[in-house]
Amino acid sequence: MPYAHITGWGMSVPESVLTNDDISKIVDTNDAWIRERTGIRERRIARDNQFPSTLAVEASTKALKVANLKPTDIDLIICSTSTPEYLFPATACIVQDQLGATKAGAFDLLAACTGFIYAINMAAQSIQSGSIKNALVIGTETLSRFVDWSDRSTCILFGDGAGAFVLQASEQPGGVLSAVMHSDGSGGDLLTLQAGGSKYPASDETLRTGMHYIRMDGREVFRFATRVMAQATREVLEDAKLTIDDIAWVIPHQANLRIIEAAARGLKLPMERFIVNLERYGNTSTASIPLATVEAVEKGQLKAGDKIVFVGFGAGLTWGALAAEWTGPMETEPIVYPQRYRLLGRLRSLINRLIRFVEGIIWGRGA
Ligand code: ACO
Repeated sequence: MPYAHITGWGMSVPESVLTNDDISKIVDTNDAWIRERTGIRERRIARDNQFPSTLAVEASTKALKVANLKPTDIDLIICSTSTPEYLFPATACIVQDQLGATKAGAFDLLAACTGFIYAINMAAQSIQSGSIKNALVIGTETLSRFVDWSDRSTCILFGDGAGAFVLQASEQPGGVLSAVMHSDGSGGDLLTLQAGGSKYPASDETLRTGMHYIRMDGREVFRFATRVMAQATREVLEDAKLTIDDIAWVIPHQANLRIIEAAARGLKLPMERFIVNLERYGNTSTASIPLATVEAVEKGQLKAGDKIVFVGFGAGLTWGALAAEWTGPMETEPIVYPQRYRLLGRLRSLINRLIRFVEGIIWGRGA
């Protein structure tokens, strides 16, 4: 059975920074309250012309470069997002087209903030079953588009960004070791974004009542999160036949520093063993784990051979954890990874659209 190694990584965040002081000019809050209750200082906000796919393509291009793969080497793209561009087409297909990953299947996965963990697990399972060799797993969000900027209990929390991993098959032991995925739909009403789906299609009424915004029972989500983070970590370690002492780093979903501290207490681990960067990005949902991971690699904290646990929770309710041995790039013949792959992808997309247009005219005339 092949092993599924994480061999590439990349991230992208919008340039525009929104600080706590900026938010205190919009709603009745202040920097001290936000920092004390959440640990967040600032978050990134996408420009009008930045979408989940824009950030995802940038993060993926970097991840492919680290993995030394061409877009056409990718067999599968899984895009986990809670803020997709559309209900359909899938954001994964937009990314597939823009990258020029012409041999890849592509789909979106929605498990809210736990989505990235679910997605790595799905990609790893596909590799371990032998059905694919190379997968691109993305977490990408523009949550700022769904934030009610008059609701001080939610608008302080969320930010935009994207992260991507490349997973590759190898006979070498390592990579993804085990994963656990959980859900409890009875808590679905604790964190919702209701309008725009089939039950509440966009209407004057949904707009008037603000149903297209994120609504959350913060205290209940907090209670749930503090319960499941340590529990899921223990469970995944047991599955992988590891102990907490084997783990170099826990990389948790970056929602609230107090939730991470509660997990640390539950696991009897010092905070130094947790990767935390939420003070600069806030809660970026599916992007938070890859953003924290990429920065940990870039700072030299996370090294090849380290055993790690990703753990997260989110709307649904969903929660889960994944244990892995960090691989780093595989040793392969270096390919020149020019910008031209992306340009070629765009050109191919344009030509496909043109061909469809011309065929449409021909068929239209024939009818
Ligand atoms: N500034 C100042 N005061 C505030 C603010 C604010 N931004 N927000 C709330 N308050 C007030 C409340 O009105 C309340 O006042 P009251 O006692 O007079 O009613 C008081 O602060 C305490 O409110 P709580 O809701 O109890 O505050 P808490 O300490 O629980 O912090 C928070 C709120 C930060 C939202 C916390 O509950 C939390 O982080 N929950 C988890 C949220 C989360 O992680 N969500 C993401 C899930 S992942 C996903 O899928 C997207």
